[in-house]
Amino acid sequence: MCGIVGYVGPRAPLDVLIPGLRRLEYRGYDSAGVGVVVDGRVAVVKKEGPLQRLEAALEGSGLDGAPAAAGAVCTGLGHTRWATHGRPSDENAHPHTNEDGTLAVVHNGIIENDAELRRELEVRGHVFRSETDTEVVAHLVEEFYGPGGAAEGDLAAAVRLALRRLKGAYAFVIISAREPGRIVVVRQSSPLIIGLGEGEAFAASGIPALLPYTRRMIALNDGEMADLRPDRVVITTFDGTPVRHEPFTVDWNEEQAEKGGFPHFMLKEIHEQPEVWRQTLRRRLLEDGTVDVTETGLMGGPAAVVRRIAIAACGTAYHAGLVGKTLFERWARIPVDADLASEFRYRDPLVGPDTLTIVISQSGETADTLAAMRAAKERGSRTLAIVNVVGSTIAREADAVFYTHAGPEIAVASTKAYTTQILALALLALAFARERGTLDGAQARALGRELQRLPVLAEAALAAEPAVRAHARRLAQHEDVFFIGRGLDYAAAMEAQLKLKEISYIHAEAYAAGELKHGTLALVTDGVPVVAIATQPPLLDKTISNIREVQARGAWVIGVATSGEGRVGGVPVGGGAGVGAAAAASGKTAAAVAGTAASGAAVNAAAEADWAPTAPALSGVVEDVIAVPATHPFLQPVLTAIPLQLLAYYAAVERGHNVDKPRNLAKSVTVE
Ligand code: M6R
Repeated sequence: MCGIVGYVGPRAPLDVLIPGLRRLEYRGYDSAGVGVVVDGRVAVVKKEGPLQRLEAALEGSGLDGAPAAAGAVCTGLGHTRWATHGRPSDENAHPHTNEDGTLAVVHNGIIENDAELRRELEVRGHVFRSETDTEVVAHLVEEFYGPGGAAEGDLAAAVRLALRRLKGAYAFVIISAREPGRIVVVRQSSPLIIGLGEGEAFAASGIPALLPYTRRMIALNDGEMADLRPDRVVITTFDGTPVRHEPFTVDWNEEQAEKGGFPHFMLKEIHEQPEVWRQTLRRRLLEDGTVDVTETGLMGGPAAVVRRIAIAACGTAYHAGLVGKTLFERWARIPVDADLASEFRYRDPLVGPDTLTIVISQSGETADTLAAMRAAKERGSRTLAIVNVVGSTIAREADAVFYTHAGPEIAVASTKAYTTQILALALLALAFARERGTLDGAQARALGRELQRLPVLAEAALAAEPAVRAHARRLAQHEDVFFIGRGLDYAAAMEAQLKLKEISYIHAEAYAAGELKHGTLALVTDGVPVVAIATQPPLLDKTISNIREVQARGAWVIGVATSGEGRVGGVPVGGGAGVGAAAAASGKTAAAVAGTAASGAAVNAAAEADWAPTAPALSGVVEDVIAVPATHPFLQPVLTAIPLQLLAYYAAVERGHNVDKPRNLAKSVTVE
């Protein structure tokens, strides 16, 4: 999620790099830097903090403002960093160079095998100056590019050789003072755009950076690289096969460009979920489904002796914690209390050395969550923070940090941060379960493999957008909405009601479906909208009874149910002709079938990956159904969130509200 800009052409490079970085600022960053080819080396200036600090450092550096001599070709690159590997600091800011500073790279994404490569390169005499994975790229390319290297003096060829060794998801731009007038750019699972000018070429991680200079662009595909010179652009695959791209013309205005073409950041962030989920899972989920969270320092001892877990968080992060509670309790068999951080801190919590306190926060700065964490620490509890913003206060003060890697979240309403928090909790719960022996290896790997499927299922969940929008239009006419569900569907309902009310200003309440009859049912009258979340096969019959209860009082019910592929005995069953349909045809609910299949599980029934889509059981009960792709019921809330985020979003749009900046609310709540 960092910002990248590259330039080759006659302009003074800082005239392109700094404004370009400024146009990518909205993505969030913690440090910035530029590198320009001057006098046989790449002159690098980089600073932690906002761009102004970089600009101040550039003043009088000799790089600032100097117009290029007539006919000269300038080469430069720039970067805004959103820390992933290593804290935000001047040293860790990009660009990173080889040892003699003749080659520089800026990078977005993660090099997964950086530790292994770093060790190898150190043995070969390379000296590293930063904690980043990016620096490995500069040294690795130098191995092939430098004197005696297999691609000596040819930057593109050297990069191509280096790519064979790199694992991960990345986009990078690399320049060399030995070949001024040339930029090499690479894309693998991280966006990289090329801008085509007259006698100049540009590269950037996002379209907005390039709009003042050109509107003719090419978007590289994964596995492609490009060799840019002022008068030509050569694109190939990593193995050197030439690729032809037809340039496209961007007609976005400035504001649209910032939001990646979406009308609001919130919608952009909802749509980013498949991509950021991959980032959250990357490195932590091996190909066979094994979970690796050694980064927390809790494996190999501490996790096995934890007697209790206390979760504390605010707002949406608390709702993620409610899902986490179930995951830890059912998979790892640890008792968990989930608290609102603002309550936890004042209730003299019973936590101590046998308790792990998990705090969850997108910003890492929420005052109540920070105070809750400090209160836990004072009582001798070990603390683990699930945080998005690297280097934030909570991340710095926690004993261990697990970053969600969701990238900057700009909209006040939290969307991608929430779902990545759940993924983080799922990874941790699985790791704890293995450590404590409450899941066997095969069970845990099966669940891990289901986690791997989620980004693709998220893409399918987004396809419900037009249908959800239609429901939202109708919902927007109402002033009160109820969300009901049982078990994890109740946790999902809690988040859905918060989302709706914070941006649409419609009064919304989440209720445990079974609790309605103890009071709230009195408010359900003719036409009152009730969103009934019914994705949990074992609870489906009960939820359907509750749906009938509210229907009998005249409620307008929108059902949220699962469709697509279920699994029985580890084998996929098609939604259409599978268990759900068969169950519906036989008059039994899918829950009954899934329940039968799951009964008698050996070690931990909660691990059995058997479920059936629930939508068939709702047909004939509810007219309006939002279908969500089915996954393991315990992972379902992460997918269920997507249409419910869209429902809130479109209801708010329908009512004409400022979706990204709702009234009275701030993105980061640093006051009590
Ligand atoms: O930065 P944090 O995750 O600690 O923030 C917690 C809440 O303030 C936040 O989730 C808030 O509820 C959101 N606006 C909900 O969309």
